Amino acid sequence: MPKRGFKRKRDDMYGNMNINEGGEGTSQSSNTGRHPPELRGKEIGLFYARRNRERGKGNWKLKRDAKPLGSITLSETKKSQIGMMLRSNSMGNIFITDNNSYDHVEDSLFKYQFLSNIRGNMMERLKAVEPGIFRNECLDKRFLSELTNKKNDLRYQAMLNKRRKLPSYEKRKDLLKIIEENQVVLISGETGCGKTTQVAQFILDDYIEKNKGSACKIVCTQPRRISAISVAERVAEERAEKLGESVGFQIRLEKKLPRDTGSIVFCTTGVVLKQMESDPSLSTVSHIILDEIHERSIPSDFLITVLKEVIKKRNDLKIILMSATLNAEAFSKYYNNCPHINIPGFTYPVTEYFLEDVLQKTQSKLFQQFEPSTSRWDYKKRVQKNRGPLSVEEQEFKEYIMPYARNLEREKKYDALVCEQLKNPDSEILNLDLVYELLVYIVEKEEKHGSVLIFCPGLSQISGLIKKIENSSKFPPSRYIIFPLHSQMPSIDQKEIFNPAPQGKRKIIVSTNIAETSITIDDVVYVIDCGKIKTADFDIELKTETLKIRWVSVANADQRRGRAGRVQPGVCFHLYSRARHMILEKYLKPEILCKRLEGTILTAKILQLGKIEEFFSKLMVSPDAESLSIALALLKRLNALDSVENLTPLGYHLARLPVAPQMGKMILLGAIFSCLDPILSVAVSLDFKDAFQIPLGKEQEADKKRSELADDTMSDHIVLHRALETFEYESDPSRFCWEYFLSPYTLKLLKKMKEQFMGYLKDLDFVSNLNPKNAENNQNSKNMSLVKAVICAGLYPNVAILKVSKKGIIKPYMTSMQTGQSCKFHPKSVLSRTRSFSFPLVVYYKKMKSTCDFIYDATMVHPLPILFFGDRYIHSEANGKHIVGVNNMVRFTADSERTVSIIRDLRDRLFWFLEHKITHPGSVNWTSSSDELNVLKAIMELITSEDMGDVDEESFDEDFDHEDDC
Ligand code: CDP
Ligand code: MG
Repeated sequence: MPKRGFKRKRDDMYGNMNINEGGEGTSQSSNTGRHPPELRGKEIGLFYARRNRERGKGNWKLKRDAKPLGSITLSETKKSQIGMMLRSNSMGNIFITDNNSYDHVEDSLFKYQFLSNIRGNMMERLKAVEPGIFRNECLDKRFLSELTNKKNDLRYQAMLNKRRKLPSYEKRKDLLKIIEENQVVLISGETGCGKTTQVAQFILDDYIEKNKGSACKIVCTQPRRISAISVAERVAEERAEKLGESVGFQIRLEKKLPRDTGSIVFCTTGVVLKQMESDPSLSTVSHIILDEIHERSIPSDFLITVLKEVIKKRNDLKIILMSATLNAEAFSKYYNNCPHINIPGFTYPVTEYFLEDVLQKTQSKLFQQFEPSTSRWDYKKRVQKNRGPLSVEEQEFKEYIMPYARNLEREKKYDALVCEQLKNPDSEILNLDLVYELLVYIVEKEEKHGSVLIFCPGLSQISGLIKKIENSSKFPPSRYIIFPLHSQMPSIDQKEIFNPAPQGKRKIIVSTNIAETSITIDDVVYVIDCGKIKTADFDIELKTETLKIRWVSVANADQRRGRAGRVQPGVCFHLYSRARHMILEKYLKPEILCKRLEGTILTAKILQLGKIEEFFSKLMVSPDAESLSIALALLKRLNALDSVENLTPLGYHLARLPVAPQMGKMILLGAIFSCLDPILSVAVSLDFKDAFQIPLGKEQEADKKRSELADDTMSDHIVLHRALETFEYESDPSRFCWEYFLSPYTLKLLKKMKEQFMGYLKDLDFVSNLNPKNAENNQNSKNMSLVKAVICAGLYPNVAILKVSKKGIIKPYMTSMQTGQSCKFHPKSVLSRTRSFSFPLVVYYKKMKSTCDFIYDATMVHPLPILFFGDRYIHSEANGKHIVGVNNMVRFTADSERTVSIIRDLRDRLFWFLEHKITHPGSVNWTSSSDELNVLKAIMELITSEDMGDVDEESFDEDFDHEDDC
């Protein structure tokens, strides 16, 4: 328990703030008043649209005399109930110092670890490094004799024969020499030439043969969990061993480690970063191989930079950078021009076809007509009539694709129908029917036998296509084996994908870009490249990250093509025209430029890498300064970092959870408030993807079903929870999924992710068993007000304020608290169909930009959770009215001083409680009375209170009094 009897001093997330009430950007009268009276009809709309745009440019803050959004009334019974709960409570006010000594927190092991982390510095720790690798002659001998014996093993020999055929095998001696002579080397080579499976083995066997096997411990990083496991299994098989002897793997929550020395571990990049928290110099590792670095994922870019620091202190650690041939030189340059060796690959020639050829060959008529219901129809009109500003894609279509199609028409090399279809902008949208038609063409008309590999952007396209194939009589299971391949897939039987198909059968693999470089399936002869890839995209203006489906780069397209020529000459069909191919970008942008940075900042903090801006400037490419400052600001608002950029106890935990910090916070609070199962469902659905899949033309029916699940909760997030909950309990889950437009496949993944998450929470000591549904963590899971309050606590500050009309009616038009911009519910949200709102506040996770800023998922929340979990709290008294508010924008009048003091008092206690709980993990005992439980119960009593007075008649804000700004 914390030390007691002090007074609060510090401003903190639940404390007072000096508020800056000066309105920026909204102070000019032209920017705030109503439209001029002479305007009519559409002109009025334009006036507000223009004004909103101008307003959006400033750093928007509510003006000084912002009116309260309503009033809060606590019934006398509620007040005395809460009073009673707290009266018996011995916790006093808490004094919180400013010097990061956390004197107010009782000593614990956690406190010790936490304080040494926030006070430490990685470079200082590296200075003190002692060499950690010792040779052991006994082991050296044993390893050598085992390897010598192995050479007589028939399985080993059979595999060795295969290995000898790989291009990397021919380069074995050169590779070993260059690694021996240099601390850092770069190895590049065509995908499939044997980098991942062979290089580590060459090094290990060389050490063993030189009778120093015990001094060799190789770590090889992989970008994905699935490739770490599959490669480890393959390498163990090549060595005629079981996993866990000289070869093993480690991914989060799953591992099969090999012997301590004389071994190779394949692991995800995140695992190495985690290991560096306790052992920054990787003191027991002799070689670290960073594989697939051309993918430019954030963890890999990050590790490359950290290791550059580490080798300054550990000159015996060898670093081997491995990349496909793409842009490899950039890595060598970054490592002070380290030596680079290329493994020349061998692939058979691959014939390439483009969309025009595909349309010609399949005689498809899919794009014969414009589909008036799609937005592209409008686009066509605009392109042809030269009206309105064009997007980049539209401009490109007009400038390159159209003229190209016209040219083809003149040349008459293709049917007129083909050229006509190319002129339809819809032909640039991924169409799964075309993929299916092409697949039918390949199996019916093309001569070669061999596997077909199809690249799709994401899970929904993969499952959509597989459904089409499986429902078709042309692909009976007796003749075809269909494999989905996706990084989030639960452990599938990996080996089957690599094995040749059984006699009389053909493999069809539907994969994301994972099959471009990290997984090689040898017997592929036909590749269908849909031309699209799903990547993250961080929108600075909206401060949100979205996943976007976009055109592949030339590098992706080349890789995809190459996959068809592994065993014989192959064929690759690109589902875009030659003209589009000409204008594809050369490479995709590194992930660090496209993603939110909160998680990466927390990792840097926990690795004690010092000031964030300074460290990020050392990366191969530094992220945009603005996205960095957005991320830092959010982490501070979430109370994950304090004002001097140190981790807080909450931040220290969030750094260990592999989800966005907002989701992490929601989950920790879900555990503390014992409503974990629904909260986990919401968090995994938001963090990964929701399970709804809405077929074209069925939107309204699906909307109805979602509303049915929402019932009267006014929450898309509760819909996510109910979908998963019903799926988990339903006796006939397939019927339920069919009826509610849900993907059973995604639901199964989400269920598995929840279970995984329990593992992380157990590591942090927040739960004691691994079942998300265990009673201990679900005492309050049926209390939807509480669940919504916890969702609010996690998603804050993503709050939007609904507009209140003169008559006090709340309308579905909002202002985002984060950006000050107007926004609207996306039609997919159940709230978009709601006409009556009890409270003018919603929290959301995703916002999208389209014709207007759309809020994708929302929960209407009671003001009290916002006043509770929000930052920059104020309370004041003016004209006899008590005002409480957060963040300058959300204000309410309170019915009495007593209500204000209850809110204030409980905020303090909540802050104390969270800090205490986070520094003393362990589940709350809900069955016996304790101080801890009394505080929690009082807080619950308040934040789940649904009493709120009517919205004040005069409380509307003029700014909110129009509807036509979206
Ligand atoms: O890393 P790189 O792309 O250069 O090649 P690799 O992944 O080492 O693959 C070399 C060979 O091993 C390929 O022919 C793969 O098909 C095969 N392999 C396999 O059969 N099973 C695995 N799990 C991994 C690779
Ligand atoms: Mg590889």
